[in-house]
Amino acid sequence: MNVSEQLKIVIVGHVDHGKSTFIGRLFHDTGAMPEEKLEQLKKAAERRGAPFEWANLMDALQAERDQNITIDTAQIWFRTAKRQYVIIDAPGHKEFLKNMITGAASAQAALLLIDAQAGVQENSRRHGYLLSLLGIRQIAVLVNKMDLVNYSRERFDQIEREYRQWLAGLGVEPKKFIPIAARDGDNIAVKSQNLPWWDGPTALEMLDMFEAAKRRNGQPLRFPIQDVYRFDERRILAGRIESGSIKAGDRIVFSPSNKIGVVKTIERWQAPKTDAAEAGESIGITLAEQIFVERGTIAAPESSPPYELTQFKARVFWLGREPFLKGKPYKLKLVTQEVECEIAEIEKVIDASTLETVTRANGQKQVGRHEVGELTIRTKRPVAFDAVTEIVATGRFVIVDGREVAGGGIIVDSDYPRHTHDARRKSGDVFWRRGKVTPAQRESRNGHSGCVVWLTGLSCSGKSTIAAELERELFNLGRHVCILDGDNMRHGLCSDLGFSPKDRRENIRRIGEVARLLAETGIICITAFISPYRADRDLARGIVPAGKFMEVYLNTPLDVCEQRDSKGLYAKAREGKIKNFTGISAPYEPPLKPEIELHPAQRSATECVAMILEQLNHVVLPNR
Ligand code: ADX
Repeated sequence: MNVSEQLKIVIVGHVDHGKSTFIGRLFHDTGAMPEEKLEQLKKAAERRGAPFEWANLMDALQAERDQNITIDTAQIWFRTAKRQYVIIDAPGHKEFLKNMITGAASAQAALLLIDAQAGVQENSRRHGYLLSLLGIRQIAVLVNKMDLVNYSRERFDQIEREYRQWLAGLGVEPKKFIPIAARDGDNIAVKSQNLPWWDGPTALEMLDMFEAAKRRNGQPLRFPIQDVYRFDERRILAGRIESGSIKAGDRIVFSPSNKIGVVKTIERWQAPKTDAAEAGESIGITLAEQIFVERGTIAAPESSPPYELTQFKARVFWLGREPFLKGKPYKLKLVTQEVECEIAEIEKVIDASTLETVTRANGQKQVGRHEVGELTIRTKRPVAFDAVTEIVATGRFVIVDGREVAGGGIIVDSDYPRHTHDARRKSGDVFWRRGKVTPAQRESRNGHSGCVVWLTGLSCSGKSTIAAELERELFNLGRHVCILDGDNMRHGLCSDLGFSPKDRRENIRRIGEVARLLAETGIICITAFISPYRADRDLARGIVPAGKFMEVYLNTPLDVCEQRDSKGLYAKAREGKIKNFTGISAPYEPPLKPEIELHPAQRSATECVAMILEQLNHVVLPNR
């Protein structure tokens, strides 16, 4: 036996389908429960005049555990000849979600119970969906209470066919279906005499066939801070390492506060001191230099931090009595972070027991109980997270409605911008340096966040005029604002560039980078460039932090631009004296979905500016 090997399993099933009985039996049959205890319980049942139930055993055990307040109250242990097992006890859907998603106990395998007589119920289907949502791939289905159907092979096959098909639709392939009768111990630890037609494994043999998860050492460190303890002069940051490893001397960044620290020591409770620790361990760390770190931040390597955003795409399984409503504030818990959130957009709602898309008369404004919403979540403050496909523990969350955990979700992939910009990094040896002033600090001093207002349109469409008016208005409102203007930039930063598509792209890339730096410094940066190519503008958008890029299209007809041209450039272009002139001998690709479209030929500059200002407030004053 591999003493150190451990497998965490979760056992799910409708209450009436015999889950507690199964766990009680499993526990007894593996010798985890002393015989005297069993006798004691049997006698107690006799005294009460009630028949002994295996489920009582679990209740008794729970009562004992409740007096013994340890971190592991929700976990029950037993062992086989092969290894040790931890059962993550999940009495209902909600506890299950809570346990799974808070990362306190991520199961590596699941046993799903179905009552042979009752068959596949709505809840059985939901359980399957939950397992698939949480990415648990090792699943076996136990068809329980076979005694009630006369150990019928036909009934068993029928349930297997039906449920297998359901799971297949979710992309889940169960390892096995096993007929059992938990109460009598049939096919639990020993092969049942009542099921002679069954030549597959017992439930316990099945458990031993699951693979223990491979250590996720290749992943970057994610160490969510759970508590900060003070001892004398030392501050110990405590938590559980969710992925990767950490050692003394490592430089780590705390997201989303962006503070940087160097690990001085690794602290353990009741264990010998070493200077390294890895995923799964609950540890404390001290830092070389005292910096203020709070519960909720996630420590990560400086070179691969989590995303830090106020918006992400997710799939949420809703269990709340009240529906999950668009626009209503909820609390989001992601590892040790807690932040107010709301639904920004609902893309799709699915019924978890039929997989059908739910359509509602009032449009997609809510996700009901037992439904799954594919949606975008917006948070009040930046949250540090990963997509669930990258790092599971930091890719899951729960939604709290009032005081109740009402839903659980996973963060799905999307092209979230990273702070490090490693994708565009030319050399592997340059790193993004962060300062000690955070975006939140800047925002609170300035009274607004930074952003980029990207004006695009033909030459003489009014970009520079509107930019100047807008700048003055914002300045008078006390905002920090600046302009990057095409003609000005071409005098310096971009003086080496001409007007070929390639040069224009480089022009826009440079401006995008500069605008981003300014926006991150808390400045409202207005840019005025023709930027005729859609792909180039999208490139600039991708450089700027998500949600902080406003594309403003100045839709002025070409003839109006030509009339307005005091420098005579259009005339020269028509004479062929200027090559590649936008609108004459080079294309202009209008934006398909600009944040704002203006018609300066029909409106005054003041009106145009007012329209920009209104939308801008939503971007830079997010709390309004
Ligand atoms: S962009 O296409 O790269 O975005 P940008 O806005 O920087 O152009 O510069 C445009 C300005 O350069 C025009 O307002 C005009 O004064 C001048 N210019 C000179 N040659 C051209 C040209 N071939 N096409 C467009 N603008 C030109």
